[in-house]
Amino acid sequence: MIIEYIGQKLQKVLDALAMDTTAKVIVSNRKDLCDYQFDGSFALAKQIHKNPFDISEEIVNKFNELYPNDPDFKKVEAVRPGFINFTLSDAFINEALTKMATHEKFNISMPKSQKIVIDYGGPNIAKPLHVGHLRSAIVGESIKRILKYFNHEVIGDVHLGDYGLQIGQVIYGLQTEKIAKDQITIVILDDLYPRMSALCKEDEKVKEKCAEITKELQDGNPEYQEYFRIIREVSGNDILKIYDYLDVHFDLWYGESDAYPYIEKVTKDLTAKHLLTESDGAKIILVADPKDELEIPPLIYQKSNGAYLYGTTDLGTIYQRIEDYHPDDIIYVTDMRQSLHFKQLFRVCEKLGYTKNTSFEHLGFGTVNGPDGKPFKTRAGTAPKLDSLFKETKEAFLTSNPKNSNMSEEDLDILVNAIIKFADLQNNREKDYIFDINKFSEVVGKTGPYILYTYLRINSILEKEEKPTTLGSEIYNQEDRDLRMKILELENNLKYTYTTRMPSILANYLYEMCVNMNAFYEKNHINNLVDIKKKENWLYVLNLSNAILKEMLDLLSIKIPKKM
Ligand code: ARG
Repeated sequence: MIIEYIGQKLQKVLDALAMDTTAKVIVSNRKDLCDYQFDGSFALAKQIHKNPFDISEEIVNKFNELYPNDPDFKKVEAVRPGFINFTLSDAFINEALTKMATHEKFNISMPKSQKIVIDYGGPNIAKPLHVGHLRSAIVGESIKRILKYFNHEVIGDVHLGDYGLQIGQVIYGLQTEKIAKDQITIVILDDLYPRMSALCKEDEKVKEKCAEITKELQDGNPEYQEYFRIIREVSGNDILKIYDYLDVHFDLWYGESDAYPYIEKVTKDLTAKHLLTESDGAKIILVADPKDELEIPPLIYQKSNGAYLYGTTDLGTIYQRIEDYHPDDIIYVTDMRQSLHFKQLFRVCEKLGYTKNTSFEHLGFGTVNGPDGKPFKTRAGTAPKLDSLFKETKEAFLTSNPKNSNMSEEDLDILVNAIIKFADLQNNREKDYIFDINKFSEVVGKTGPYILYTYLRINSILEKEEKPTTLGSEIYNQEDRDLRMKILELENNLKYTYTTRMPSILANYLYEMCVNMNAFYEKNHINNLVDIKKKENWLYVLNLSNAILKEMLDLLSIKIPKKM
């Protein structure tokens, strides 16, 4: 990375001066003044009781002594009150760009490959998918693609919520309303679940009955198992359709029910390590640590009626994953509100020794709110079903961009995906955000349509011209330089995205690059240029920026339409 490269050079200078600090170079926060900066003189000033500017000057003098006429830089200077500013030379920039254009994955160095299981999506069958599940799918899919890009072997598991109380409620409804097994459809399930769930809230007896059915199902009652298989299939097919629309794909379609065969093995491990405690007839696992600021409650392993819970199936699933895949890492992408659950779960894993060769990560996300600041709802009403959200998004896009009414259905679906995904992924995943369909459907602003429009605009120039094979050493104006510098920032941004598992860093980088591409386009008219050399150099840069845009959009699972 360029930052590290400059840092290494600077470290030699600091060492030569016997200055005891690391050469931490950062991207400039005044791009109009320089490309990179070193602010370490301020800390050194306190350490050696000198003026920071004098220290910076001393460092720069030594730098020039060690690297006389360094071709990498146009300027290395000490500025008041004590910064050191680095400005790259045109030759250095263009050489780095050439390396990016001619090497696989833009010449970005890759870590050692690991095997990673990522658990995301997590829909609950027989319940309509809601926007929360949309977030898990979008953020999870992007993180999966980023991990794959960094050479890891990644296994995605949808981990269906398929054995909870909702199944007992739906089976109860099917039986009392005498709906034959071969008549169960998604329309029937969508209608039944909310009614049964409401009924359980009103009628304690019905609630008990539904819990009983759920428990018997889990114990293997053949009649309920038969219902379960049908419900899982009908609901699963509906879920699959939504994920297909979103271009979200899972390697495994396991669910909580698939963890049951492993629970006995976990129980054996827990017993051997004396980790199960009785509490009012239930079995719990104590996970509190005296060092905790807030006390962590025990994980409930088995209820007094013998029923297993969310944490139990999660432990069974972990057992299975370790047995089947020996993963280096298991990642969960869920709502932040499940943080405590995962904290408890991971502590149990630690006590069981399951963390010996496997690390665990919970990547939480915030809530999707409507413009009123409350959890998002579609126009249709209270239960925001995802297909109606897609439809409303398409309408919003066409309303704000009537010229696009002749776009193909396929391209429109790509746009809907881009609108929803870019709206989501640009936000720090841990934060709530306001989903405003109209705002995110605009072609101006930090939106999916803006990014795609930029790509297509540049692509329309590139299509007409031959792709140049070499890049000259000159840079022609500020917009030109800004774009080239932005391209060089890819590695830094992508690596940071990867280590923090924050797709928002990549999404914001791509937006900034598009701003630079459009500024470049408006300033520099390529098509009728007579200066062939200049034209080729510019085409080279634009080819590279569009190649980056396309490859990186794929990591956000955003496709590019043929036209818009
Ligand atoms: N079904 C859960 C929900 O709707 C998410 C499952 C997440 N994965 C897991 N292994 N716990 O919140």
